[in-house]
Amino acid sequence: MPLSTVSTAPLAPTASLAPTASAAYTDLEGLRRQDPELADVLIGEVARQSDALQLIAAENFTSPAVLTALGSPLANKYAEGYPGARHHGGCELVDVAERIAVDRAKALFGAEHANVQAHSGSSAVLAAYAALLRPGDTVLALGLPYGGHLTHGSPTNFSGRWFDFVGYGVDPESGLLDYDQVHALARSHRPKAIVCGSIAYPRHIDYAAFREIADDVGAYLIADAAHPMGLIAGGAAPSPVPYADVVCATTHKVLRGPRGGLLLCGADLAERIDRAVFPFTQGGAQMHTIAAKAVAFGEAATPAFTAYAHQVVEHARTLAEALAAVGFAITTGGTDTHLVLADPAPLGVDARTARARLAAAGIFLDTCALPHGEARGLRLGTAAVTTQGMGAPEMARIAALLAEAVRKESNVREEVRELVGGFPPYPVR
Ligand SMILES: Cc1ncc(COP(=O)(O)O)c(C=O)c1O
Repeated sequence: MPLSTVSTAPLAPTASLAPTASAAYTDLEGLRRQDPELADVLIGEVARQSDALQLIAAENFTSPAVLTALGSPLANKYAEGYPGARHHGGCELVDVAERIAVDRAKALFGAEHANVQAHSGSSAVLAAYAALLRPGDTVLALGLPYGGHLTHGSPTNFSGRWFDFVGYGVDPESGLLDYDQVHALARSHRPKAIVCGSIAYPRHIDYAAFREIADDVGAYLIADAAHPMGLIAGGAAPSPVPYADVVCATTHKVLRGPRGGLLLCGADLAERIDRAVFPFTQGGAQMHTIAAKAVAFGEAATPAFTAYAHQVVEHARTLAEALAAVGFAITTGGTDTHLVLADPAPLGVDARTARARLAAAGIFLDTCALPHGEARGLRLGTAAVTTQGMGAPEMARIAALLAEAVRKESNVREEVRELVGGFPPYPVR
């Protein structure tokens, strides 16, 4: 597709679950006249996103309304502090934007307090630790080989450097969380905090069980719900809000907002969380992103988003079944969420080779650790393809294309192009 034919103007009305259209702020043509070198990158990336299958579980297509807020002159505003208590003048309107974002987040997730300033999911986790822990404290979290995030104790991350992390695992056979093991580790290590949440766990997390374990050892419970947060917003996954002391999340992924972080907690921890974000770990709030978060929370409160969240899960289940039928081994035997973990080993290919072959075919996904050993698997998500308006027949088609591409039986690049061509995430003009 020629680059000049792609636009981030309002979405085509073809995709039934696609976000509703609004005026686009983004002026790619103007950018092309001023800075063709960079415009080519931006326009090329829109084309890349439109011209391939986006199965990366952490990605999605935001609405034009979210992009409008992101690309707005709110990006110019300095706003250290919180609404009504800023270190800069002229914050009256951005204060309104932040209050809207906070109120919508509280209402959407039923939380007493929300902080919408965290720049990313990692920044949200950093702030949660800063609010509740001291350097050297013991923290119990899902080990990285089982799907823990870098911020859950990686030696390459601040978390592993500043805290004493103990990792729990999943059952090597079933791939499921072993709550008895978590409890036993909690009793022997007496952590100051327990973290639940993962980058790759495809099943619901039993937050009540984690709460019981945390209470038994007097630990804080931090839920890092970055992945399921959009499903939680749409009522398609259980919420950690009634159980966790602090919930950390991203506003992208299934939630379909801008790249950013979010923290939820009870009124008792509100001040500690706010001060842990600013001034402890961050400076000025990014008001354009906060406005975009407000837009996304507004969208997530609609019946259309509830339908979307449920469809994301239904599509992941369909995709898992279809992948099993064409020969992949599916970790935990299926999924409750947007995530599917598929081992290509039965097809005679390792995950890294599979990912490279898939990328060459225009199919993008990640590799990730598998619970039963050293081998890696493929991590897929259905958030983006569902936003595009794909349905059950397309999930079966995707599984067949994956099997063909992984086995290198044929070159499926054109078939992928034809499939995605029917579901443009942004309109082609
Ligand atoms: C569980 C979990 N925590 C934290 C993060 C970090 O989010 P970010 O990349 O926005 O820093 C992620 C991102 O994928 C995640 O999955």
